[in-house]
Amino acid sequence: MADIQTDVLIIGTGPAGSSAAALLSTYGVENMAINRYRWLANTPRAHITNQRTMEVLRDLGREVEDEAYMFCSHQDLMGENVFCESLAGEEIGRMKSWGNHPLSKAEHQLSSPTMMNDLPQTFMEPLLFKTACSRGTQARMSMEYLRHEQDAEGVTTTCLDRLTGKEITIRSKYLLGADGGNSRVAELEKLPFEGQMGVGGSMNIIFKADLSKYVAHRPSVLYWVVQPGADVGGIGMGLVRMIRPWNEWLIVWGYDINGPEPVVDNAFATKVVRDLVGDQSLEPEITSVSTWTVNNMYATHMQSGRVFIMGDAAHRHPPSNGLGSNTSIQDSFNIAWKLAAVLKGEAGEGLLETYSQERAPVAKQIVTRANQSIGEFGPIFEALGLTESTDPEVMQANMDKRCDAGGDAERQRAAIREAIAFKKYEFDAHGVEMNQRYKSGAVVTDGQMEPAYELDAELHYQPTTWPGARLPHAWLFDRNGARHSTLDLVGKGRFTLLTGLSGEAWASAAQKVAKALGMELVAHVIGPRRDIVDHHGDWARAREVGEGGCVLVRPDQHVAWRAEELSDNPEADLTRVLAAILHRD
Ligand code: FDA
Repeated sequence: MADIQTDVLIIGTGPAGSSAAALLSTYGVENMAINRYRWLANTPRAHITNQRTMEVLRDLGREVEDEAYMFCSHQDLMGENVFCESLAGEEIGRMKSWGNHPLSKAEHQLSSPTMMNDLPQTFMEPLLFKTACSRGTQARMSMEYLRHEQDAEGVTTTCLDRLTGKEITIRSKYLLGADGGNSRVAELEKLPFEGQMGVGGSMNIIFKADLSKYVAHRPSVLYWVVQPGADVGGIGMGLVRMIRPWNEWLIVWGYDINGPEPVVDNAFATKVVRDLVGDQSLEPEITSVSTWTVNNMYATHMQSGRVFIMGDAAHRHPPSNGLGSNTSIQDSFNIAWKLAAVLKGEAGEGLLETYSQERAPVAKQIVTRANQSIGEFGPIFEALGLTESTDPEVMQANMDKRCDAGGDAERQRAAIREAIAFKKYEFDAHGVEMNQRYKSGAVVTDGQMEPAYELDAELHYQPTTWPGARLPHAWLFDRNGARHSTLDLVGKGRFTLLTGLSGEAWASAAQKVAKALGMELVAHVIGPRRDIVDHHGDWARAREVGEGGCVLVRPDQHVAWRAEELSDNPEADLTRVLAAILHRD
């Protein structure tokens, strides 16, 4: 007999584990989360928080979303991605990033009720963890996962209570491995991976110093500093990242992964800070130093029976594009409702297999993109003339040529402009963040073709109600005039059906089908004199089905199925589709 019983045991309380716990508790599923440490992330790590993640927080409750906005640096402080010789030194160029170019900002505003922002992990984790624990999650800190064994009915996990030194066993129906990039859960389950760990080495130096005079006039999250010869034989590019404007910072500085791990003492850290800021009289307060490796690895399958992996356990990549914690939280949004449906007896276990079908392709996509983004600094170095020599003096002279008159210098300036603008694939890749379309057994397309992307799918989000895509956002209004996003009408652990006045029969059918299947299915008839009205006509333009058609939406706000018109037998259609999606035999 195990010491403790729960329905879902979550290993790890990082962004993946804490968000899974928060969602499961919100859906009324008994769960327990453990962490081998005493507390949550003690350094800011991930920070870029994209709209899709904010939609998950909004779905958890407006109070959760509002608290994120309260602690974040807002989008308008993120925008001027600067390339320079030092913060005090010459600027090489800038690009408007993270939705701050006016055209990109419009796309952001049209796409979601939420705003991208910068929320360091030291704020995100406590927010998710608090939400989880206050809604029912049993959390055990200083509790180290050692191993597990699964059988037909459940999983028995052995942990080490680091306070008493004793081993305890926990029996659960399912196990979530949210235990980070060195996941022991993934290792013990022998889950398949592609790629390589440790393809580069980096160090983080966290410090406090008021740098307002160098940055407040060009607010940004990231300041890229190019200093030829500043490291051994390399280009010498460092990153100065804002944690809190403008007095708390994190420097990322590379080291040779093939050499010994560097010893980063206070004197070395202070030197790196002074060099990158360009102020030798600066007295930074160094608060933390650590080293980490650049990884390029993703799981090709994320489930083994009753065990699932999520977050960095499944996708291991550099911070480029800011996808780490975002993708982890979005993994949770995918699996939580499926576990809830199975545990409540509303769905068959086959539904759980769709988690890996849907999220493994995302893992591959984001790991590939994040690593590609590192390579895409190459054209900047080339344009600056840094790849032609390893002699710092030659490199500096090549860089300085950009300030000359004449054709060569003109061409160099044009090349620099073009290379910096190309970094939009890292710093303004709205499509990478929002275009996730699922193809799996938890979606019914009835043979409808996937719409082609009209614009670059990495840069631009393309809304569609094609089954598998995220429900498009449009503002709708209630009888009091208050506005609600289409995304606000759906989610919250339930299936939802959206239709128009001519599709009333769908709504009545939904009620009957929900009763027959023993599940919750909310229906909204959108139109004049109804509870929800489409005053702008934006939903009518976005829905891609007729007024008598319907869009059935999953609890994670992805479209499950749609009908273009009212069918002859709405009840039979909804029963067929829901039975298929929920894998009910
Ligand atoms: P995460 O690693 O956050 O959490 C794992 C959890 O599992 C932790 O709670 C850990 O204690 C627990 N755990 C592990 N093994 C356990 C065991 N055996 N028993 C019990 N508990 C166990 N990303 C980014 O976008 N921008 C950035 O700048 C950075 N910088 C950065 C720096 C450093 C030093 C690290 C380590 C990581 C980053 N990242 C990052 C990556 C980002 O932090 C990462 O993508 C997310 O934290 C992933 O969230 P997870 O919850 O999946 O793992």
